[in-house]
Amino acid sequence: MAPDYIVQMNHISKHFGGVKALQDVHLNVERGEIHALIGENGAGKSTLMKVLAGAYPKDEGTIVIDGVEATTATPRAMIDMGVSVIYQEFMLAPDLTVAENIFIDQMQQSGMFINWKDLKRRAKQQLQKIGFGHIDPGKRVGELSVAYQQIVEICKCLAKDSKVLVFDEPTAVLTHSETQKLLELIMQLKAEGVTILYISHRLEELFAISDKITVLKDGKYVDTVETASITKEQLVTMMVGREIEQLFPERNAEIGEEILRVENLRTGDLVEDVSFSLRKGEVLGFSGLVGSGRTETMRAIFGADKKTSGKVLYFGEEVHFKNPKQAIRKGIGLLPEDRKSQGLLLKQPIRYNATLVSRQGNGFINHKKEQEEVRKLLARISTKYGSTEDNADSLSGGNQQKVALAKWLAVDTKVIILDEPTRGVDVGAKTEIYQIINELAENGVGVIIISSEMAEIIGTCDRAIVMREGRVTGEVPKENLSENQLIKLAMGV
Ligand SMILES: Nc1ncnc2c1ncn2[C@@H]1O[C@H](COP(=O)(O)OP(=O)(O)OP(=O)(O)O)[C@@H](O)[C@H]1O
Ligand SMILES: [Mg+2]
Repeated sequence: MAPDYIVQMNHISKHFGGVKALQDVHLNVERGEIHALIGENGAGKSTLMKVLAGAYPKDEGTIVIDGVEATTATPRAMIDMGVSVIYQEFMLAPDLTVAENIFIDQMQQSGMFINWKDLKRRAKQQLQKIGFGHIDPGKRVGELSVAYQQIVEICKCLAKDSKVLVFDEPTAVLTHSETQKLLELIMQLKAEGVTILYISHRLEELFAISDKITVLKDGKYVDTVETASITKEQLVTMMVGREIEQLFPERNAEIGEEILRVENLRTGDLVEDVSFSLRKGEVLGFSGLVGSGRTETMRAIFGADKKTSGKVLYFGEEVHFKNPKQAIRKGIGLLPEDRKSQGLLLKQPIRYNATLVSRQGNGFINHKKEQEEVRKLLARISTKYGSTEDNADSLSGGNQQKVALAKWLAVDTKVIILDEPTRGVDVGAKTEIYQIINELAENGVGVIIISSEMAEIIGTCDRAIVMREGRVTGEVPKENLSENQLIKLAMGV
């Protein structure tokens, strides 16, 4: 029997200026399957999905949905054909409520009369259906955590009764348990007959849920394989074009004197009594669930938020940073978790973004020299981009993360705090980022890594602090680091 394809994309090409994002790409998805799409940062995954959603016009190729060719592939037409995309970069309206966001498309169609009470009730139902009934439908989306924004985005697509649902890296912003919940939800949707397209850099997830995997590389189609017939190593080799021997490279850093000491720190409504110290050349991990207070703690140290009480000692001296500028001037850096709102200026050139920190204080800028430096810097972490003068929003998700990191490599820091440094970064590039963390430590920098990926904490850190509900619940030395140990402390068991 011939396969029953619900999505057929053939000979798809798409370019942006000189960048060939897609060249003659194929994607054929059978009804009811979970089909994963994988490839390095900038391989073209999100672009292919935006073409499918009608968000980008294609240069060439055909799209057939459930036997019908999409001749006018506009966003509206594709939604009507039953295709919905949950984007990597959210498309929510931060000033509207959860309920309004979920039903925004229907509201625009139905016109004048909106029954707010009913809207809220229906939003609540949708949220409950996927196990997040505790999210308040009346809350403004901008006030929600990134993870919850993701949930709202998912609800919004589910509310449209789609035949084909695309998830573009949905778990990059979720914690371990939230991820498990989402994967279960996806399996449930599959059981209900929805066809799923799933993009993720986390291979375990692909192996856990997908039936088939299509691999893209440099904008080209590599192959489509049955998940059951391939190993992780084979998949990585197809993706990266080489074998990755060691995800976590060795480090030869000498751990020296204490450079940062935090005593009984309190900040905001959540963080209470956090104490820890960091040494020269040390890589210190912060583990815990999303919302455990790790980011808030670091923001208070960095001067981005006010501390209510407690002490921060830097090279033995008490410091009171009133704003991040003061911290940066003293040699402390922070890469925020949310690159979209805090890490990058998307409407500014890549060059400007990469030199944002190093430029502070220097009045005169030599553009040519700066370009050259930026090129070198970005090459160190294998960033894929068109020109240094392109805006940051032309970068793929993972490459945006690399530019956000690059700006800290251009300056001389003594302490660097990295909040989810490899979020959305492909396996090959992850190793490169770990290598850079190693180099920083080997040069005597004290590195703090907040990560929700336990494997990352275990693989890169000399020691880990675990937080739960605003407090430190444990400190684990390298030799005792295990997932089991970290989960126990994070959950308070
Ligand atoms: N709007 C745009 N303008 C210019 N170039 C773009 C635009 N969108 C994507 N590109 C380029 O197209 C290529 C493919 O990007 P895409 O976002 O599809 O990658 P991806 O596979 O989703 O990567 P990631 O894993 O990092 O999310 C990249 O080189 C990117 O810089
Ligand atoms: Mg992408």
